[in-house]
Amino acid sequence: MRNRELTRPEKSQATFEPRIVAFFCNWCTYLAADLAGTSRMKYAPNVRVIRVMCSGRVDPQFVLDAFAHGADGVFIGGCHPGDCHYQEGNYKTLRRFHLLKRVLQQMGIEDERCRLEWISAAEADRVRSTINDMVEKVRALGPLDLIPTEEKVSAEEVAV
Ligand code: FES
Repeated sequence: MRNRELTRPEKSQATFEPRIVAFFCNWCTYLAADLAGTSRMKYAPNVRVIRVMCSGRVDPQFVLDAFAHGADGVFIGGCHPGDCHYQEGNYKTLRRFHLLKRVLQQMGIEDERCRLEWISAAEADRVRSTINDMVEKVRALGPLDLIPTEEKVSAEEVAV
């Protein structure tokens, strides 16, 4: 079955709510997001977080798949340089990210739709502010319309 969870039935600009897929490293940004939640910090509910063991686990194909399945933005969060639990996973992430950005530019996907940030477990407020900032920037850009109309389905059509 194809993953259609991210397709949107509603695309009106006036009611547009961006869908952001976030890949967060288990050891830092995911914990920071968790801390933001337990500290009752409010951030936009537009983010669907996927926990990965290291930002280096984020294959560029994951990002392309997220966009292809309806995400309006993708946010990758990892440990600060030098703090990666797997020594150099985030350095690999950074190298791949630069290449990925070039591919996205070639596809006509704006820079603001894909973001990489280093956020430690203690930086809950930075998770909050980064998510809110990204949601507003993507909202201003409008929906990313990569899915042909005939392939779009509503949430009710998604088989369980
Ligand atoms: S363990 Fe967090 S980026 Fe590698």
